[in-house]
Amino acid sequence: MKVILMMATTLDGKIAKTSHHFPSWTSPEDKKLFSRISKRSGVVLMGDKTFFTLKNPLKDRINVVFTLEKNLPSQKGVRWVTGDPGKVLADLKKEGFQTVVLGGGANLNSLFLKKKLINEIILTIEPKIFGQGISLFEGEFETDFEVDLELLKIEKLNQNSLAHYYKVNY
Ligand SMILES: NC(=O)c1ccc[n+]([C@@H]2O[C@H](COP(=O)([O-])OP(=O)(O)OC[C@H]3O[C@@H](n4cnc5c(N)ncnc54)[C@H](OP(=O)(O)O)[C@@H]3O)[C@@H](O)[C@H]2O)c1
Repeated sequence: MKVILMMATTLDGKIAKTSHHFPSWTSPEDKKLFSRISKRSGVVLMGDKTFFTLKNPLKDRINVVFTLEKNLPSQKGVRWVTGDPGKVLADLKKEGFQTVVLGGGANLNSLFLKKKLINEIILTIEPKIFGQGISLFEGEFETDFEVDLELLKIEKLNQNSLAHYYKVNY
């Protein structure tokens, strides 16, 4: 199972100002890239804080949402999951999925990186500075990492936005 982390950051490495900040500040080209790659994989994994910033579940993909909340209402296209991400990935693999997209946020990114489950990172740097906010990896899980990356390619998405493709070498 290949896990691709796809995120957009500001120049100062922030993915949002707060946990409730809807990522509407990213470029249309980055949104298209996310849509294309995640639809091809068929699955987006995310934390519930990220999911609750969306107006609706992401279309034409399974939204696998990590949450500790119980009794959340069932919704078309949404799977509420909890616990070990390795087990969630193993179940998706049994269903025939080969690649999944991890779509944030910072908490879930850290959990997956800590468990060495992220194989590739596609990071778009948008031409913005927030100063304060949430970093790519942070939160309740241990975030003292030293992970080596290999740059695979850089893609210019528009005049101002660059997508960086990295392989993760644990
Ligand atoms: N710029 C971008 O590309 C981008 C992409 C995605 C998200 N974001 C932003 O990131 C922010 C949210 O990030 P965040 O770090 O605050 O939250 P998050 O990672 O989206 O969600 C964290 C929550 O996920 C649940 N969770 C995590 N691990 C779990 C596990 N193993 N089992 C069950 N539940 C688990 C917990 O939910 P509970 O304890 O709440 O139940 C935890 O509080 C939003 O502002 C969003 O817009 C930005």
